Amino acid sequence: MNLGYYLGDYLDTGIKVPLEIQTRKKISNILLAGKSGSGKSLSGRWYIGDMLSTGESLVYMCDYKAGEEYEAFEGSPSYASGADAIQMILDFYDFFTEVRNKKLRLQQHYTLFIEEMSGLLNYAETQSKKLKTELQAKIGELLAVSRGLNMGVIVCVQRADASLFSSGAREQFMCIMSFGRCSAEQFRMLGFSGELEENPTVNYKPGQALVLLDGQEGIQEIIVPLVANPDVLCRNIRYCLDKQPDIRSLTRAVAEGRSKGL
Ligand SMILES: Nc1ncnc2c1ncn2[C@@H]1O[C@H](COP(=O)(O)OP(=O)(O)OP(=O)(O)O)[C@@H](O)[C@H]1O
Ligand SMILES: [Mg+2]
Repeated sequence: MNLGYYLGDYLDTGIKVPLEIQTRKKISNILLAGKSGSGKSLSGRWYIGDMLSTGESLVYMCDYKAGEEYEAFEGSPSYASGADAIQMILDFYDFFTEVRNKKLRLQQHYTLFIEEMSGLLNYAETQSKKLKTELQAKIGELLAVSRGLNMGVIVCVQRADASLFSSGAREQFMCIMSFGRCSAEQFRMLGFSGELEENPTVNYKPGQALVLLDGQEGIQEIIVPLVANPDVLCRNIRYCLDKQPDIRSLTRAVAEGRSKGL
């Protein structure tokens, strides 16, 4: 997956040098953090388009906020908005559990994409405290274990507050991105603090981000392109989302031993 282009090269020379990561078995958990308007959702949509078009991963989307940028996916079995977003997480977790119980080696990579997780957890809490705790525990388990099973989780948050995650879960992201302008507090929460002393903060624009990758030294500055024709991108994503199996049928297939090709 292409995370974006190195910012320095892009600004200095206009040359687009991609920062590529491999989601499959490697960088499967990604955190997209940044204030409102920093470009998380549009970047997330670009990543989803990339993963689906290359077949790198199948994506199951939870969009509690039901944002305009994902409107084109409304009605797809692999996209859930509003309160249904909770069920998508529970369903993805059931698939994960079934795969783990059957000790299945998945050939395909599967990604759970959680848009604006804090809104979703706040809503869950209004339903019951237990539901919020259950979701956090399940997301935490997915973050901790899913990579080995060829699955991953992408989470978008405005503030990467520890209270959003079950204990230790925040440390399970192999790729942490901070979009746009960012407070010193957010930098600390993302684990960027040590790096920052050498790299004074610049005013990052929407779609520009700092990236901390497992196994790489230092922070990278990147820019995610603004897609010139979002309708085409959305149509392509929608086509792929509709074509992929829905998450419950995957769980059934694994439970019934029909797992060939999954
Ligand atoms: N890659 C980009 N290049 C240039 N501008 C961008 C880029 N991404 C987003 N923007 C601009 O920033 C605006 C907000 O982007 P986006 O909705 O992705 O932000 P967000 O971080 O998801 O905000 P929120 O937390 O409120 O959902 C876009 O409408 C667009 O004008
Ligand atoms: Mg957004």
